[in-house]
Amino acid sequence: MKKVTVCIGSSCHLKGSRQVVEMLQYFIAQNKLDDKVELNGTFCMGNCQKGVCLTVDDEFHSVTPDNVKDFFDKEILAKV
Ligand code: FES
Repeated sequence: MKKVTVCIGSSCHLKGSRQVVEMLQYFIAQNKLDDKVELNGTFCMGNCQKGVCLTVDDEFHSVTPDNVKDFFDKEILAKV
């Protein structure tokens, strides 16, 4: 099970974390990965300037609503 945790703190929220979460939910469902990827939210990760912050199995990444599709393909879909 891959653990994907998206920061929903206020700074990341302003940069589109809600949209990032919705897109990830959609990609996960579309690729039928519900039993392979666990999606969570977390409060501020202390890296606001890099937002939207997220971790995949504790590895730090930074995405935007514009590149989250690429991110999903490379870092999640290709690795499950
Ligand atoms: S709000 Fe996301 S790292 Fe601070």
